[in-house]
Amino acid sequence: MAHSVLLIIGGGIAAYKSLELIRLLKGRGIVVRAILTKAAEEFVTPLSVASLTGTKIHTQLFNLTDEIEMGHIELSRSTDLLVVVPATADLMAKMAQGLANDLASTTLLATDKKVLLAPAMNVRMWLHAATQRNVAQLKQDGIFFVGPNEGEMACGEFGPGRMAEPVEILGAIEKLLNTAPKVLAGKRVLITAGPTREAIDPVRYISNYSSGKQGYAIAEAARDAGADVTLVSGPVSLAEPESVKVVHVQSADDMLAACQGQYDVVICAAAVADWKVANATDHKIKKSADQPVPILAFAQNPDILAQLSQDGPKRAKVVVGFAAETDRVIDHAKAKLTKKGCDLIVANDVSPASGVFGGERNTVHLVSKTGVEDWPSLSKSDVATRLVAHIAAQLS
Ligand code: CTP
Repeated sequence: MAHSVLLIIGGGIAAYKSLELIRLLKGRGIVVRAILTKAAEEFVTPLSVASLTGTKIHTQLFNLTDEIEMGHIELSRSTDLLVVVPATADLMAKMAQGLANDLASTTLLATDKKVLLAPAMNVRMWLHAATQRNVAQLKQDGIFFVGPNEGEMACGEFGPGRMAEPVEILGAIEKLLNTAPKVLAGKRVLITAGPTREAIDPVRYISNYSSGKQGYAIAEAARDAGADVTLVSGPVSLAEPESVKVVHVQSADDMLAACQGQYDVVICAAAVADWKVANATDHKIKKSADQPVPILAFAQNPDILAQLSQDGPKRAKVVVGFAAETDRVIDHAKAKLTKKGCDLIVANDVSPASGVFGGERNTVHLVSKTGVEDWPSLSKSDVATRLVAHIAAQLS
């Protein structure tokens, strides 16, 4: 049976993008019904929306004919997913408070289905403590988000608040409906993620701040795209993704050993320690007043990405590395592409000000032999979905 989506179109300049989204959804065979808020009607007309959906448009809560044909409760439940485009600051505030004083907010409160919001608003409104509080509350309530992106706004300002593009919203919808095209079906994908720990003695180690979130998000995106995924993970505090083979390791040497095998795609997202402690001891180093402080000697760790990029019968068709840089990001990434021999480098700025390490978002540049693609600030999950689509296109 065809999937169905209930679009709730909010009142903002980005409402016009909902028309393109309807076209994309219909192209995927998804049934689209729509509710327009009163403010939305200032930006798009019910007639233009109805012409594209091919279904009746709902605008009022107390409409006798509508209530007889399909009441608001049924409207909110006879669909697989509710999508709010654009989710305005006002609509999100109502949802966070559980207000129900028009058809859109009543439907959102009455539903027992998943709800996806595509926020769009002025950057100051998005960054306002009240909006951020509402976003946090809605996330806690199990509401899903796509965007907003960073960019030029209709009001002339720049920053986060721009609605995600229709294709991105479509991607998020397909993920929630589990109808994403299986672009990596039958492919074996290896992903490294998280930090490594290099022992000093049995109770101490050297490591780094990597959270593993980006690598785990890629593992989930590759799985959703139909791949057979092996995730080799350093120590992180993340739940294992379902239906992914997870191999837990500690050191870079362990990680390299766990990466042997035949794969179609290799993605090295781990922050591998460059050095290990050459004079690590197998007993706890004791401190005492009459002993000098220990001096650690280091030895080079294997470069896993470089080894997996080497030519040979077992080399994967696409090998992807990450470049975590704090300055001259693109220059360093280009140099790494050549030095390591991989096909793509996902370059990101990990200077403390960027908030990438441990954060939820990432602004990356995709560096290949043919050029550089600059991606907007995206959630780590959206970076993962885009990267998987890019790799799939390269494979085909
Ligand atoms: N990498 C790896 N094995 C290592 C070091 C790095 O597989 N021993 C991989 C990482 O997973 C990442 C890429 O190489 O995909 C680049 O990692 P990064 O830390 O940015 O670069 P380094 O090679 O360590 O170089 P530098 O620290 O000088 O920037």
